Amino acid sequence: MKIRESFYPAGVYVGVPNFAVFRNEEYFNRPHEYLPERWIVDSSTGTDEEQVKLARSVFKPFSIGPRHCIAQRLAVKEVSYVIAQLVYLLDFRIVGESGKLARDILPDVGSHVVMEQIDVFTSLEKGPMVEWRPRDGAGKHVLILGATSGLGYAVAKAALAATASLTISSSSAERIDATIHKLHASLPNSEIKGYACNLAGENVEQEIEQLLQRAEAGSGKVDHIIYTAANSLPVMPVQDITREKIISAGQLRFVAPILVAKIGSRYLSSGPESSITFTSGTIAEHPSPNWTLMAGYMGGISSATRNLALDLKPIRVNAVSPGLVDTELWNQLVPNAEEKAGMFQHLAQKHPTGRVAKPEDLAESYLYLMKDINITGQIINSDSGALLM
Ligand SMILES: NC(=O)c1ccc[n+]([C@@H]2O[C@H](COP(=O)([O-])OP(=O)(O)OC[C@H]3O[C@@H](n4cnc5c(N)ncnc54)[C@H](OP(=O)(O)O)[C@@H]3O)[C@@H](O)[C@H]2O)c1
Ligand code: HEM
Repeated sequence: MKIRESFYPAGVYVGVPNFAVFRNEEYFNRPHEYLPERWIVDSSTGTDEEQVKLARSVFKPFSIGPRHCIAQRLAVKEVSYVIAQLVYLLDFRIVGESGKLARDILPDVGSHVVMEQIDVFTSLEKGPMVEWRPRDGAGKHVLILGATSGLGYAVAKAALAATASLTISSSSAERIDATIHKLHASLPNSEIKGYACNLAGENVEQEIEQLLQRAEAGSGKVDHIIYTAANSLPVMPVQDITREKIISAGQLRFVAPILVAKIGSRYLSSGPESSITFTSGTIAEHPSPNWTLMAGYMGGISSATRNLALDLKPIRVNAVSPGLVDTELWNQLVPNAEEKAGMFQHLAQKHPTGRVAKPEDLAESYLYLMKDINITGQIINSDSGALLM
């Protein structure tokens, strides 16, 4: 075989280096330019399917023939995992023009920027250079009390997707295990731990202290505490209210959150990057028959939120105030599924948004309150527009 002026006898293996084939106009449009978009079919960049197919047909980074890399499959898996992990944890951007002007390297290929080649065993390209930073929420440790259902579960899922490490809690070790299993099924490899903490008992302070100790020992310093724990809704005519019922209704809705703030603030770093987020409800501002106890406690937790933001500064303290949300909380008050669906449909029509909120809608408010280090002492109403009704 003759290539240019040289003759190669039969039996000689002839190879084409990647450098040469990648700069061949038969396969690549504008071959000397750095155009990563050439690998993705997209009408807005003018890359069609045929071009990508042609380019891929000569893309042989592991070589072919007798010198073919023996570890191609292993290397592709390794590289895929590394890139997936980097993109999952970090944001990146290109830093300036990290290549060199083409005319300084190859005088006949124009004046665009090309990546500098370095001689190594095969060849190495210097650039493009990228700058990395942790994604929002990456590496943050979020503790959620009340994470086995409803709003708390939705926040747990959303926080994990935002790459937080997570500690979840509720009164039941069994439900915590089931929840961790469920979260792992949707987000494998996520870092989730869980510990039971019964907020309903008299020894609630010890329970909270123990939870925070275990959370810190298990996954490091806690950055954010979310409180969505609640038991059955104390909805009743005024004539049914007793001293015991008032006290019992307040335990998870007022007593425990304040104690979580008191004890939790000792475990959070002292700074606006740390936050505590409570859960209130539209009933605090919009009365409804038989909801006096709820109105009192929800109003109470909203006011306490503002005050705690001062008392615990610079740690931020906020609350989310939902309207009606389709969660398990309603199962006790309206056990009949048909009746519940009818009630939700009726209220959806009245809501300015025309729908009943899903817990994952509300999760966005909790995420926001964790991320915005400028917000404290605020109550976010995410209520389908219920306060306008
Ligand atoms: N859903 C709505 O329409 C709505 C509207 C406005 C305001 N809110 C407020 O939002 C908050 C969360 O409601 P949700 O709908 O998410 O309720 P949910 O689905 O019933 O969830 C309540 C959570 O609290 C936990 N919990 C119950 N008893 C506990 C205890 N003794 N100790 C520790 N944890 C306990 C439950 O877990 P275990 O059972 O495993 O312990 C569960 O994880 C409540 O404060 C509620 O008033 C809800
Ligand atoms: C992205 C990563 C990798 C790339 C792009 C790559 C690419 C290549 C290329 C182009 C060759 C041929 C070299 C030549 O013709 O002179 C080669 C050969 C080889 N590679 Fe890789 N390689 C990678 C990773 C690995 C890994 C992880 C291993 C070992 C665990 C490995 C082991 C080998 C061996 C042993 C050869 C020589 C094969 C032979 O001559 O028979 N490579 N590789």
